[in-house]
Amino acid sequence: MPHQVLEPVRPEVSPVAGRIGAVVTRVRLSGDLPERVVAELGRALLRHRVLFFRDQHHLDAAGQARFARRLGEPAACCGHGRADAWHTDGTFAERPPKAMLMRAIEVPRHGGDTVWANTAAAYEDLPAELRELADRLWVLHGHGDARAEHPLVRVHPETGERAILLGGFARSIVGLSSRADSGALIRLFQEHVTRLENTVRWRWAPGDVAVCDNRATQHRVVQDFGGRPRLLWRVAVGGDVPVPVPVDGRSGAARPPAAGG
Ligand SMILES: [Fe+2]
Repeated sequence: MPHQVLEPVRPEVSPVAGRIGAVVTRVRLSGDLPERVVAELGRALLRHRVLFFRDQHHLDAAGQARFARRLGEPAACCGHGRADAWHTDGTFAERPPKAMLMRAIEVPRHGGDTVWANTAAAYEDLPAELRELADRLWVLHGHGDARAEHPLVRVHPETGERAILLGGFARSIVGLSSRADSGALIRLFQEHVTRLENTVRWRWAPGDVAVCDNRATQHRVVQDFGGRPRLLWRVAVGGDVPVPVPVDGRSGAARPPAAGG
């Protein structure tokens, strides 16, 4: 009689919105997850950009950090500017985080949702003429004393996709002397990122965990709540220096002459 083989429980991944976001069930997040499950979650993250896990009440800050450690090196969590403005975390640093993990501890009775946008889908949607322009531009990002210049379009280090790298820390287009031109271009590309078709909105409950690929998303809080505080614990996973798209057959667009460190 053949052995009865017990199928290991596999996480179930169900998309939420058409272009971004999936709820993952049948997994209890921890630092001890089998490698097979971590790899499966990693693939789902690349595909869906943000994963939502309900009822992870067993996690505390240490447990969340241990799970994050399975996704990569821990990174200093990026000082927040206005969380209610669209942003990619830490773009004012040379190496913005690769992923962010947010765990809801206390949430308002109503409101305080977070919305994520898919910056790779936003790039795909650009008309060819704008993609060509975007591929060549560099952007200065800043927050406090921190400054970094990044390509407006980065090549995703794991999927090879192109994604718009912009958001609320973007200060100016490198090499443009006119603030008005700079601002107009930033607004133009930013509006493509935040089209509702590229977004998913999450209604938090205590115990929820969201993991997002910070290399292919922007996010913001919806500031529509009062009363009960909103307490989310965030952990960052370290990322790479954003790589520009190849231009004119060369690998990587040349940094503009004015670009500093
Ligand atoms: Fe953020």
